[in-house]
Order: sequence, then structure tokens, then C-alpha cells
Amino acid sequence: MKNLMRPFAFLVLAVAGLAAAGFVQPAAASELNIYSARHYSSDDALYDGFTRATGIKLNRVEASGDQLLARLRQEGRNSPADVLVVVDAGNLWLAERDRLFRSVRSATLEKAIPARFRHPDGLWFGFATRARVVVYNKDTVAAADAPRRYEDLANPRWKGKLCMRSSSSVYNLSLMASLIHRLGEEKAEAWARGLVANFARDPKGGDTDQIRAVATGECALTLANTYYVVRLMKSDKDADRAVAAKIGIVFPNQDAPNQNDRGTHINVSGAGVLAHAPNPENAVRFLEYLLRPEAQALFAAANNEYPVAIGVAVDPALKRLGDFKADDLAVHVLGENRARAQKAYDRAGFK
Ligand SMILES: [Fe+2]
Repeated sequence: MKNLMRPFAFLVLAVAGLAAAGFVQPAAASELNIYSARHYSSDDALYDGFTRATGIKLNRVEASGDQLLARLRQEGRNSPADVLVVVDAGNLWLAERDRLFRSVRSATLEKAIPARFRHPDGLWFGFATRARVVVYNKDTVAAADAPRRYEDLANPRWKGKLCMRSSSSVYNLSLMASLIHRLGEEKAEAWARGLVANFARDPKGGDTDQIRAVATGECALTLANTYYVVRLMKSDKDADRAVAAKIGIVFPNQDAPNQNDRGTHINVSGAGVLAHAPNPENAVRFLEYLLRPEAQALFAAANNEYPVAIGVAVDPALKRLGDFKADDLAVHVLGENRARAQKAYDRAGFK
């Protein structure tokens, strides 16, 4: 049997060799089509860098995560897209659930990206992370009194003081998904009920709107992703920097005073190779390129996120927020618990 297999193995290698040398499908080998939910001008440098490094021409479509997912579902196997780039593990999970991704095995990706930031079967990979932090008004909340844990936001002492964006926001769903995993569904739901009891107003707006509401004193507390805070800090508008100056932040669930606390909830921006990708090899090369230090720096700095690759410098403004211990929960769990998270919020009356 072994002897019979040998010629076939040789044939496969020979064809692979021809493809690598560019004798098979030369046109397809030089292109890559990306659908990206990121739209940061600094991503241009990232894409140019990939083309310079590989000679692969890169075409991209930019739209919201929802729009791209709808488009991919509609295009089906006729889609020209090779790679989907989105923010938040919740969106990666939606693409995974709809079987839009293919499994990728890459020693480069597996070595450089910690296991908790990628899908166990290689359906998607996280390239940058963000933390969801407590934001408080420094005039109305003394630093020493500010909530130290997500759980503290449900304390009745904050009645009428809390602003939150909608529970259907993927960021709040992912946080709830992590709490369900860590605390159990019952306690997580009780926490949500406590938040609702503390609302200063009904949920509305995005993270930046919540931060502004804290700065104006409409509420004392909120939760926001780190990059929204840094964006205001770095803004060229005086009014934005004034907002940033009004607020303090806390990375929740650090050790003290609760020893062995689980750490701050974090999430990923990530990408996967699409099931019907016409250029899958180029797609994997692109994902591997994203891990190069220069690409990691660009990818993370574009949206003030933390690079996943070890040893890549964090943006100085982001660094000023401070170091913290992150919850080491595998981020694919956030997607898996998403439906339960929404139901728990619904039961708690968190709109
Ligand atoms: Fe965002």
C-alpha cells in the first residue's frame, strides 16, 4: 500500500510546486480581495506595506460589519472576497455561525497569536485587543470611590448615576457573555438588573456618547472601550480633549482588593479566510503579514488598540491609560454565549 501511495504523493508535490512557481493560475496568485469593517486612514499604509512585501495586489471593500456579513451571505460561493476583517469577537462569531470562514492552519499564526485570541479550528484570528473600562466623572466621583469591579456598577449607591449604551451593542453583549461564563447566568442577570436600577436615563448612543454624558455630568459612570477614550485624548478638537480631561478610568477586576480577581474584559479585532476565497494562499499570507511587527504597530495604532503579538510597542497615548491584567477567557466563548447574553439582558429589562 505504501509503495502505491508514493507516486501520488509525488504528483501532488509536483503540482503544488508548479503552483508555487506561478505556472498554474498566475492571475489568481497575484490578487487578494478584502472585505473590511475597519475604515481608518492608517490602514492604507498597512495594505500598501503588504503589496510592497509580497507583490500581491490588494482590493478592498469597506462597510460596516453588518453590511459585509449580509453581502457575503448574499454572494455565497460567487463572492470574490478572500478575507473578512471585523471588530469584536461577537462579529467574528456571527461570520463563523453562518459558515463564512474556512479553517486555516498556519504555524506562523498559531505561534504568534495566543490561543485565547484565535478560533480553536483556525476559523478566525485576533490581531489587536481592546479593553472595556469604567469611565467616571472626576468632579463627582472621587478616584478612591470609583467602582473597581464590573460588579460594583450594580451597587445601589450608584442609583441614577449610570449611563449605558444599548444592551444589543456587541460590546455589551460580549461583556455579558464573559460574565455568564465567569459568574453563571443567574448572577450575571442579577448584575444586569442592578445596572438597570442605577440608570440615569434609558440606554442610547454609542460609547463616545456615554463618555460625553459622563463629562457633562448627566451621569457619573459608564463603560467604554479603551480606544474611544484615547481617540478623545488625541483629538485635534479642543472640546474632545476637554471631555477627556474631565474623566477618569478604571481597569475593572484587577487584584486589589479582591485577590485573584479575573481581570478586565477584553475583546479582539480579527480576520478570517472566507470559505469561498478565490485566493486562499494569498489570504493566509495576508493574515501572516498582519503579525509582522511593523504591520502589528500599524493595525493596532490605527484604532488605538493593543497589538496581540508579544514585544510590539503599545501606542503612547494608550499606554498612558496604564497597565492592567486582562481576563484570560478565550474570546470565542464571547460569541458562543452571545444569545444567552441578550436573553439575560432582556429578562433584566436592559433595553
Ligand atoms: Fe467601536
